[in-house]
Amino acid sequence: MSIRRLLAGAAAVLTLGACMVGLGTAPAADALDNGLALTPQMGFDNWNATQCTSTFNEAMIESIADLFVSSGLKAAGYEYVNLDDCWALPARDANGNLVPDPVRFPDGIKAVADYVHSKGLKFGLYSSAGTKTCNGQSGFPGSLGYEQQDAEQWASWGVDYLKYDNCNNDGTSAEQRYTTMRDALLATGRPILYSICEWGESQPWTWAGSVGNSWRTTLDVTDNYSSVLSIYQANIQLGQYAGPGQWNDPDMLEIGNGGMTDIEYRSQFSLWSMMAAPLIIGSDIRTATPATMAILSDSDVIAVDQDPLGVQGTQISSVNGLDVITKPLANGDRAVALFNEGDAAATISTTASAVGLPKAAGYSIKDLWAGTSTESAGRISAVVPPHGTAMFTVHAGGSWQTLPPAVHTGIDYPALYAGAPPLVEAGVTTTVTTVTGNDGALPASAGNVSLTGPAGWTVQAESPTGFPALPGGRQQSTPWSVTVPAGTPTGSYTLHASTSYQPGSTTVGYDLTVYVVAGQPAGVSSLGDDQWISSVNGSGPMERNTSNGAAAAGDGKTITLNGQTYAKGLGTYAPSAVRYYLGGGCSTLTATVGLDDERNSSSSGSVAFQVWADGKLVTQTGVIKRGDPPQQLSADVTGASLLELVVTDGGDSNISDSADWAGAQVTCA
Ligand code: GLA
Repeated sequence: MSIRRLLAGAAAVLTLGACMVGLGTAPAADALDNGLALTPQMGFDNWNATQCTSTFNEAMIESIADLFVSSGLKAAGYEYVNLDDCWALPARDANGNLVPDPVRFPDGIKAVADYVHSKGLKFGLYSSAGTKTCNGQSGFPGSLGYEQQDAEQWASWGVDYLKYDNCNNDGTSAEQRYTTMRDALLATGRPILYSICEWGESQPWTWAGSVGNSWRTTLDVTDNYSSVLSIYQANIQLGQYAGPGQWNDPDMLEIGNGGMTDIEYRSQFSLWSMMAAPLIIGSDIRTATPATMAILSDSDVIAVDQDPLGVQGTQISSVNGLDVITKPLANGDRAVALFNEGDAAATISTTASAVGLPKAAGYSIKDLWAGTSTESAGRISAVVPPHGTAMFTVHAGGSWQTLPPAVHTGIDYPALYAGAPPLVEAGVTTTVTTVTGNDGALPASAGNVSLTGPAGWTVQAESPTGFPALPGGRQQSTPWSVTVPAGTPTGSYTLHASTSYQPGSTTVGYDLTVYVVAGQPAGVSSLGDDQWISSVNGSGPMERNTSNGAAAAGDGKTITLNGQTYAKGLGTYAPSAVRYYLGGGCSTLTATVGLDDERNSSSSGSVAFQVWADGKLVTQTGVIKRGDPPQQLSADVTGASLLELVVTDGGDSNISDSADWAGAQVTCA
């Protein structure tokens, strides 16, 4: 079981109607006629990083504007600096005007807009197409019924961008509410980019092309891989509705917020760019790592997002969670992304003809993340790590003969079952195989393959590592014995494979994450206390011995199912999956499972629990809905090495899907 399979039922069911696709730099015929967002908007919004905390204030926003200039983000194309919810006071003034919060914005909003403008940037603001905004505690005023008054106030402040949310909307049709604000913005005479945030509820892609410059297609992104994956799976299906001036918006970037690996963050940036999505930075870049800045500033990937042809990429294949996405570019080239949804490294391949390029003797391939260029006879492939994305631009013909052949190297690691992560116990020797393939039309010559492990590990080649020439279309495999020293602490470690070859003294590398594991002790162990191999969770990190809480780590409460409390267990939020190493010595898993009471008891929520042992489903609940009694689960895990506990969203979205494995424990010999 893998995270991509647990999400299979989670993607929104999308109704695809007729719509025009925009081609070229002019807006599509049915696009909102404000001349804006001819390529997807780029900028910053504070919400994902700050929500309504006191960090969100004038000083922060002004230093983000400063940083846009000093860090090169402005030069990279980021333009809008936007405020999200909580910028206003809870009440309008006597004239019905919105009032900036004087604590957060002591100089008012116009002063901040002026500051942002003084940096050569544009300024954005937030409101809701309802009576109140979405922040539940204070309930800030929304713009329903105040559209013209608010639009004029914003225009007088110099607002260039409106994000218009959907909370507290009194049930009035979305099309009507969003169209009223469109007309109000147009009537001000100021060009204001109009970003519809309706969460895809009434399929805005079918009606919003002439209403807004972009429309959210899903519920909110959160800073975890399962959220990014499920939003991608929904948004990728909507390509036909996107074009210059009218974009699908899969929500803002989480890159840099800390809940994902850099591999996963590069996937969000790659996939969003392939989908011609708005690129709105959602982390506090004042404290960004160099890796975060490198991802956000990657000019080759940004160029794919901003390509003037303005066509959203299409998924041309998705087999076992290995996806090929292609996007035509204005110069006739194709952007290609190879995305590995799953948990095990995999080689993903396509061809130049499959991505829509004409026949040629050779192709030039630029690897956008590596920054290298190679030639290919037509195959486009990469060894892609779990949750990773390789991204290329491919050009038919040209001066491909001057480039080194497209060589890639991977590591085949013996797996418990297809899709299982690489596992090893301390003290054990494993035979792994490096595989080097050449997609080029020309041979790779004078090659050498190496494999290195962490300090103290013994890594020995069992056959020659060099090759005089590797012809195009051929592979070379080398077995290696890898010994993990006895006493190595459990955790994740890296094996690094590298191949050097001619011409051009070229080197390609690949990192494989290997988990050093130890079997469970004899007796009964509580999974809330045990070390797991890996976990994914639908909202923030999975919690030990508390409920899930919200996105922050450690913010859960006592696990409570229908009023009954539990001292131990796992607090998750669907879709979630956690993997434990059992080592073959355990017999039974038991748990009480259900929706946690931490969510308002009147709220919705539906989930299903599954127990997988060595890749086989051994027991599951049906769908458990809010108010249903918790269920006792007992699963036979005799002899299994790998235990995986999965919570699905029950087949609908994951709203209020806070779900616990209360009292979860394994019995081992
Ligand atoms: C909604 C939106 C978010 C954010 C919050 C602010 O949830 O979808 O992007 O704007 O409201 O309260």
